[in-house]
Amino acid sequence: MLPFAPLLALLGFASTAHSSALDKAEDLSDCLTKAAVPISARGSSDWKLDAAPFNLRLNYTPVAIAVPRTPKHVQDAVACARQLGIKANAKCGGHSYASFGLGGEDGHLIIEMDRMNKVVLDNTTGIATVEGGSRLGHVAWELYNQGKRAFSHGTCPGVGVGGHALHGGYGVSSHTKGLALDWMVGATVVLANSTIVNCSATENPDLFWALRGAGGSMGIVTEFRFNTFEAPEQVTYFIAPVQWPTEARAFVGVQAVQEFAQSMPAELNMRLFIASRFINLEGMYYGNKEDLRAALAPLLKKTNATLALTETGGWLDQVKHFGGGVSIDQGHPYDEHETFYSTSLYTKALSEPQLKTFVSYWFQHAKTNKRDWYVQIDLHGGNNSAVRAVKSDSASYAHRDYLLMYLFYDRVDKNRVYPADGHTYMENFARNITDGMSRSDWGMYINYPNSRLDQQAAQVNYWGGHLAKLQAIKKAVDPDDMFHHPQGILPADA
Ligand SMILES: Cc1cc2nc3c(=O)[nH]c(=O)nc-3n(C[C@H](O)[C@H](O)[C@H](O)COP(=O)(O)OP(=O)(O)OC[C@H]3O[C@@H](n4cnc5c(N)ncnc54)[C@H](O)[C@@H]3O)c2cc1C
Ligand SMILES: *[C@@H]1O[C@H](CO)[C@@H](O)[C@H](O)[C@H]1NC(C)=O
Ligand SMILES: *[C@@H]1O[C@H](CO)[C@@H](O)[C@H](O)[C@H]1NC(C)=O
Ligand SMILES: *[C@@H]1O[C@H](CO)[C@@H](O)[C@H](O)[C@H]1NC(C)=O
Ligand SMILES: *[C@@H]1O[C@H](CO)[C@@H](O)[C@H](O)[C@H]1NC(C)=O
Ligand SMILES: *[C@@H]1O[C@H](CO)[C@@H](O)[C@H](O)[C@H]1NC(C)=O
Ligand SMILES: *[C@@H]1O[C@H](CO)[C@@H](O)[C@H](O)[C@H]1NC(C)=O
Repeated sequence: MLPFAPLLALLGFASTAHSSALDKAEDLSDCLTKAAVPISARGSSDWKLDAAPFNLRLNYTPVAIAVPRTPKHVQDAVACARQLGIKANAKCGGHSYASFGLGGEDGHLIIEMDRMNKVVLDNTTGIATVEGGSRLGHVAWELYNQGKRAFSHGTCPGVGVGGHALHGGYGVSSHTKGLALDWMVGATVVLANSTIVNCSATENPDLFWALRGAGGSMGIVTEFRFNTFEAPEQVTYFIAPVQWPTEARAFVGVQAVQEFAQSMPAELNMRLFIASRFINLEGMYYGNKEDLRAALAPLLKKTNATLALTETGGWLDQVKHFGGGVSIDQGHPYDEHETFYSTSLYTKALSEPQLKTFVSYWFQHAKTNKRDWYVQIDLHGGNNSAVRAVKSDSASYAHRDYLLMYLFYDRVDKNRVYPADGHTYMENFARNITDGMSRSDWGMYINYPNSRLDQQAAQVNYWGGHLAKLQAIKKAVDPDDMFHHPQGILPADA
């Protein structure tokens, strides 16, 4: 009997699959110890940090937590899991909304990468070598300080480059500069059979293709190589609140926004942020205030928005602004959390009837939700979007052609319990929008997952037309689905 087995029973580990993995805890621990793989010991303060998900609503118990310092440690940890038939997952920033870094269920070996966060810029080639456990803020900080360079990515400094860049990575520079994964030029990956390989456009190109959109299902990236651009000396970030007190005005306003999105200037990056108590247009412009004002003027007029904040600064100033003011250079320990439900959508421009449904759900149903919720609509595509400029089948990210990218987010105070039926507000919001749409007219973003989807629906929604090729590659590199999570790619014919 394992020393902690009675405790696990008390905690209610019902499923035999998971409890059988947990029963192997001692064997796994022996294997890791023999291979000299560092671990976080169960119950230690590091275990508490490493096992704590960003979303406290979805808390899972690992069978063990390996904390590699070298690629060899990662290989040895993977070999132990394989030998014992245990599922394993990399965890980088731990920010998956559905806790996929913890396996998305009990009983996985967690390979906690966040102690491997070295960032080295080669300032002759502009290529950055970034270890697989780095957080975005740390990467931005190092690239800027080592050579005034940057690449495009999302806004939260605590988010891991692992989950972020392997599944998309959309931020306030993406309309101008593309997704995080568009800057990836190579990676070093530990595969399920514990071999380590490099991939790029010319070396293992199928693996490289699959990594850029579905990487978490394919292997463990110990090191990324990213191209970089020269950080602009001057960017202007802005907030323009809008007041749309009636459905009719919201209809006109959102319609103006989506029309504007189709041809807005490449230098402009913007989202419509609809919160329970306010609505903002917000974003970043590559340039100065005057040019921003000129670019926005037609939209401000149509929407009655007023620029409340415009601030010109350097690259790290905008990182700090959009990071919510926390320190940019994030590493271990990291201990920020929320308690929430999320889901997402991508769509083309909404037709008039679809927009009517959207606005009517918003005013008649969403507004009756008294929790702290928001719907963030990124102006993802459009004629001048760098995301759309890349060929759709050049990476496994499947949704380049969509104009709008929605995140639906509904939270309670982090120390409270999210209600069991809380998801209905946001789930119905998304379903009302897509109801009656043709299946090829919408998708979802795995980095903004809906934890309630079953695996078949999840795969179709996240990877659309790229799914069959991804399943074939999965079968070649991970036939036994060792890097499993409940919404990951399944091997072909499984
Ligand atoms: C506060 C906050 C702000 C966010 N802002 C944005 C945003 O602006 N734009 C945006 O696009 N997204 C954003 N996201 C979503 C974010 O991109 C995803 O949650 C992302 O997957 C988090 O990556 P992670 O490494 O922190 O997560 P983890 O939970 O550690 O990992 C997520 C998935 O990636 C896999 N993975 C992680 N590292 C590796 C690796 N080295 N090798 C192989 N697989 C790996 C894991 O196994 C898991 O499946 C935000 C999330 C939060 C919580
Ligand atoms: C590259 O980095 C080295 C060492 O930090 C520095 O001396 C040199 O000036 C840098 N070169 C460029 C082109 O930035
Ligand atoms: C991968 O490429 C890097 C950088 O070129 C190199 O240092 C490393 O040895 C390669 N690793 C493998 C496993 O080929
Ligand atoms: C966007 O480009 C398409 C062709 O690619 C063109 O038909 C359309 O008019 C353009 N739309 C706008 C708003 O510029
Ligand atoms: C903008 O303001 C005018 C004048 O108050 C009003 O008629 C119009 O409906 C408003 N438009 C929006 C989108 O709020
Ligand atoms: C639309 O929203 C309403 C109100 O929440 C809900 O009853 C209905 O089921 C939703 N429709 C769809 C297709 O989800
Ligand atoms: C490991 O898996 C890869 C991908 O399937 C394969 O190419 C390689 O030959 C395997 N290595 C060993 C040692 O089995």
